Amino acid sequence: MNIKNITEIQDQALQEVEAASDADALEAVRIRYLGRKGLLPDLMKQLKDVEPAQRPEAGKRLNELKNAFQERFEARKTELEKAPSPADKTTFDVTLPGSWRGLGKKHPITQLMERAIEIFHSLGFTVADGPDIETAFHNFDALNHPPGHPARDETDTFYLSDGDLLRTHTSPVQVRYMLAHKPPVRIIAPGRCYRRDTPDATHSANFHQIEGLYVDRQVSLADLKGDLTHFAHEAMGPKTKVRFRPHFFPFTEPSVEVDFSCHVCAGDGCRVCKQSGWIEIAGAGIVDPNVFEAVGYDTREVTGYAFGMGLERMAMVLFGITDIRHLYENDLRYLGQF
Ligand code: PHE
Repeated sequence: MNIKNITEIQDQALQEVEAASDADALEAVRIRYLGRKGLLPDLMKQLKDVEPAQRPEAGKRLNELKNAFQERFEARKTELEKAPSPADKTTFDVTLPGSWRGLGKKHPITQLMERAIEIFHSLGFTVADGPDIETAFHNFDALNHPPGHPARDETDTFYLSDGDLLRTHTSPVQVRYMLAHKPPVRIIAPGRCYRRDTPDATHSANFHQIEGLYVDRQVSLADLKGDLTHFAHEAMGPKTKVRFRPHFFPFTEPSVEVDFSCHVCAGDGCRVCKQSGWIEIAGAGIVDPNVFEAVGYDTREVTGYAFGMGLERMAMVLFGITDIRHLYENDLRYLGQF
């Protein structure tokens, strides 16, 4: 044994400590060097054979080796304890079932809206869009509401501080579209509307409508009834009947309310239709000439029909939902049924 040997052994030992890839391998290295029958005790024993002049130096170097080894050994040990060993990783059972994240489902209103778009698309209608925050011009003035009309009242309409408002119906999209496009027009405009209603089983301060507008030469009430009947048959079933009741809207003349026969009792009368056999689905009519004048259409050239359908009402009948508030409480247990 000589000093040079000891240095080589130390280098080798420290390298092996560093290379140990788990706790077992590290322990094996320790036993090989420091164990009772290990290399270091063996070297200690050989010390007495070293030449007396070199003995103190050799002893000192062996002690240094032992200290260096122990220090590196402890460091490596904590390192391995912190990091998960490759062995731990492979104990993960890849055949276990994964954790289910759950697929989302479309909200009933979205489902119905998409279905309605599909049906009107097949009749040649395209989708138009407008903002939820509207001007009084688009929401009321251009739609022939006189200045003191009750719908303008703050008790019915949400106003913003700058005089704009949350649209109370989807009809302003008609105005926007006609201002930007020449006739003929065949659009539907699905979207959210807002009114100052006190929420109850059938009222909500926000709800959805689908606006329809068809403008061309000689469009009549018969076209309106034909198209809405086609829609009713596609959306609610081929036996659905459609009826018009005279009504009033400032922007249509004549105006009607449109009822579909009750989906639940087929017209016999039940709780859903309040025993009448009919469900009120839309407001509609022939576009008032004043509206055409507001958007610059020639009233001698074109006529048109318009309608605004309530989506919540239809969803409630179709899906058997008894309280409109269920649609807005975001209870996934409830909404997941549809
Ligand atoms: N905008 C009307 C409402 O919200 C519905 C409607 C639309 C009536 C188009 C006639 C024509 O009640």
